[in-house]
Amino acid sequence: MLGRAPSSKLGPKVNIGGSVNNGSGPASPRKGAPVVDRQQANPPTQTTHLLQRQGVACASRKDLSLNALDMSEAVSSRDGAGHESIADTPAWQALVDHIPEIEETHLRYLLKDEERCLRLSLEHNGLYSDFSRQRVTPKTLELLFDLAKEAGLKEKIEQMFQGEQINETEHRSVLHVATRADRNQELIVDGKNVVKDVWTVLDKIKAFSDQVRNGEWLGATGKPIKDVVAIGIGGSFLGPLFVHTSLRTEPIAAMKAQGRQLRFLANVDPVDVARALHNLNQETTMVVIISKTFTTAETMLNARTVRKWITAELGESAVSKHMVAVSTNVKLVSQFGIDPDNTFEFWDWVGGRYSVCSAVGMLPLSLQYGFDQMEQFLEGARDIDQHFLNAPFEKNIPVTLGLVNLWNISFLHYPARAILPYCQALSKLAPHIQQVSMESNGKGVGMDGKPLKFEAGQIDFGEPGTNGQHSFYQLIHQGRVIPCDFIGTIKSQQSVYLKGEIVSNHDELMCNFFAQADALATGKNAVELRAENVPDNLIPHKTFTGNRPSTSILLPELNAYSTGQILALYEAMVAVKGFVWGINSFDQWGVELGKVLASKCRSKMNSARTQSRLIETSDGFNFSTTRLLNRYLKGKTFLQYPEPRDVFPCDLIDSENCIPPDDETIL
Ligand code: F6P
Repeated sequence: MLGRAPSSKLGPKVNIGGSVNNGSGPASPRKGAPVVDRQQANPPTQTTHLLQRQGVACASRKDLSLNALDMSEAVSSRDGAGHESIADTPAWQALVDHIPEIEETHLRYLLKDEERCLRLSLEHNGLYSDFSRQRVTPKTLELLFDLAKEAGLKEKIEQMFQGEQINETEHRSVLHVATRADRNQELIVDGKNVVKDVWTVLDKIKAFSDQVRNGEWLGATGKPIKDVVAIGIGGSFLGPLFVHTSLRTEPIAAMKAQGRQLRFLANVDPVDVARALHNLNQETTMVVIISKTFTTAETMLNARTVRKWITAELGESAVSKHMVAVSTNVKLVSQFGIDPDNTFEFWDWVGGRYSVCSAVGMLPLSLQYGFDQMEQFLEGARDIDQHFLNAPFEKNIPVTLGLVNLWNISFLHYPARAILPYCQALSKLAPHIQQVSMESNGKGVGMDGKPLKFEAGQIDFGEPGTNGQHSFYQLIHQGRVIPCDFIGTIKSQQSVYLKGEIVSNHDELMCNFFAQADALATGKNAVELRAENVPDNLIPHKTFTGNRPSTSILLPELNAYSTGQILALYEAMVAVKGFVWGINSFDQWGVELGKVLASKCRSKMNSARTQSRLIETSDGFNFSTTRLLNRYLKGKTFLQYPEPRDVFPCDLIDSENCIPPDDETIL
């Protein structure tokens, strides 16, 4: 088995309690993995893939020889690496050997096997998942479970739930599951029961959101708060936006939110400021600044902007009544001028993209929908956490989803996945999962820092059906093969049924959910087209090759609880893949370089402007960037301030009273 042995065994139904964090820090290198012949473990197709991915394919061009040098170093370290990669194990090789068997099958025929279909359908607490349209057989699943065993998947899941420091590059535990743990659970990290801390903050959120919602908490001018602007980006935005979008049309949640608005401000684009503040009144608005680090440049500039928007109208003292914060960095929050009493803490052991169940999501969403609704969301997530931790692999939905997904990526070499909810309220699921999945598993090296020998990570995208059908489905049906996740509900959040129509509007939507998965799987061949008298010249154009994989997920309905289930399901699926691949799914070093370069642009742009000059060679940018920057600066010269002053897009924020700024003074 690859990977560390757990420091303690969990009993069969242990929740997340009884953790042992021995504080030993990063694991020692893995030893004793089975050795297989390298040639055998890396058949030519895989090697070619790897080299292409690493850019070696470019090396034939002389002017790119540096690239080739860099890459050859990477490849030679792989040569020396030997045998710690999961790709070097017999279990991996067995799956490689199994590919030709699957290549001989077609989903059109696989779907006729009812036993297979039953074996490939799983249910847990209302959540039904059908994998029968995946290019797998029961044997594939067995081999994938063997691979999971080889990778130490069960042990790694337990280590995560026990609070071990599995995020080795940041020396952190990965305990988002603790943010939705039952109040009575116990999870000791560094001698502290973190579940107690979680509930101290949750109780504070409940008390605060109740006060705001029942009008006890008044703004600086004595008016009750009815609108909330949540400022944050990445994980401090996408998760809360996904949940908000999921709940805003759900009847009970909508009733609880009556008369209230929740807006988000993520992008540092001033247009987003204008949109987020449009028609809001400072006197009745609460601003929640959400940032794990409280250093994210975009969020902090937006926070300063909105703070100005408030203080310009209500004075400095209004900050304590209109601005609160969610962060792990309580010190910086207080330096920003926010009262510690108005600060809602979370912890380093919650990754940003996994933080929606912490105060990051719970505070703005409880202000909008009430804490009781949001508690149901936590319960739904907890339900899947427990299933993920305790169910045997053959019955475990996130494990099966993760392994089948990994099969598609690393063995069938499908680079992308489409997330296709037939449910408008899930329209922000794909953007959220893009971050959860791509920031977590978009890695090029394993835990040991060595280049991966296989494809990991995946391009995630998606749109609600049926909108996607009229957009990119052409490619999915006849172009590239993109495995799809179809998600539907039995009951709609809203009913529309017209007298005289043969089905309700939701039925109509769901007919597409059923039809699209089958169209992709079974396709349409020349024989069938001829039988329909399709002219010969059109047959190639109208042929659907089929055999395009998908998973169908059917829920009873979409509410706070099932939203929590979906969230935890996708989070767990991402962890499964990362654990098997042997990568660190919980760091994100790949986002750093761009931030550093943006910071250099910021300071050089400022010095060029203040010295009334253009960017010069000595500023250290390459030729192309120097030209681009200078074009930008020249184009903006007419927007320079005569005197520094605060400028707001007031025509959008307050369209009635706004005097549009003179062209010459806008910046
Ligand atoms: O830049 C990426 C990232 O670090 C994400 O991982 C994170 O969710 C986002 O920025 C926002 O970070 P913060 O919550 O610290 O402002």
